[in-house]
Amino acid sequence: MKAAAVMQRLKTRVEGLDDLMEGGLVRGDIHLVAGGPGTGKTVLSANIAYNAATAGENVVYATFEESAEYLRRNLKLLGLDVVPLEKEGKFSIVDLEALKGQQLETNISTLIQATKDSKGTLLVIDSVTALLLACETQFEMRTFMKSVYTSLKAEGITTILTASLANGGKIGFEGFMTDSVMLMENWEDEVQMKTRFVILKMRGTNHSKRYHSVVFGPKFAVSRF
Ligand SMILES: Nc1ncnc2c1ncn2[C@@H]1O[C@H](COP(=O)(O)OP(=O)(O)OP(=O)(O)O)[C@@H](O)[C@H]1O
Ligand SMILES: [Mg+2]
Repeated sequence: MKAAAVMQRLKTRVEGLDDLMEGGLVRGDIHLVAGGPGTGKTVLSANIAYNAATAGENVVYATFEESAEYLRRNLKLLGLDVVPLEKEGKFSIVDLEALKGQQLETNISTLIQATKDSKGTLLVIDSVTALLLACETQFEMRTFMKSVYTSLKAEGITTILTASLANGGKIGFEGFMTDSVMLMENWEDEVQMKTRFVILKMRGTNHSKRYHSVVFGPKFAVSRF
């Protein structure tokens, strides 16, 4: 039997996505969703988190750029009402903004503790870039990123990190340090802006290397061009 076949996978349940990655995200791995502004990093991560919680998993969603209230409202507009899931203890929002000023290591420990307390199987950190911005030097950023990776891996928590790229920006060391990289990009034809998705890498997975179109509504999906 192929090693990949025995890997435990967390289904994203996003239409069109699991088939591109042998059934889902490898459990216990650290996955990066990178992209420019407004490419759908939050929408994609939130859909995966919502779907997992609806399917019975306990999810922790750490938000830095949007407050918990703002995130709840935006998700509801997307048809993802997380409030009932929060009441059931299946979906916990941690507002990282509230932890501002704390040591970076404290932030990560808080998230790991919150995930353990809620018996979480999926942690989303939206975004890791916001956390890294608190570092003063490139060296500090790399060291912090390495410690985030090592501590999450040691706990076996399946994690989705989002990373913000400046327009036209390239993925930095975050891409080397994580187990998978999914890239979301805006592009234009003559009349409109569109969004595409590609898996750049996914360790242990025979994944698609094709660009897919991102469909934002009425149901979030990825589909073949
Ligand atoms: N309620 C909605 N209905 C339709 N489309 C929406 C809705 N909410 C968001 N979108 C679309 O999804 C896009 C991506 O939003 P999202 O917030 O996920 O991007 P992001 O990559 O997380 O951006 P940022 O870099 O600001 O964090 C928006 O620019 C918009 O086009
Ligand atoms: Mg976002």
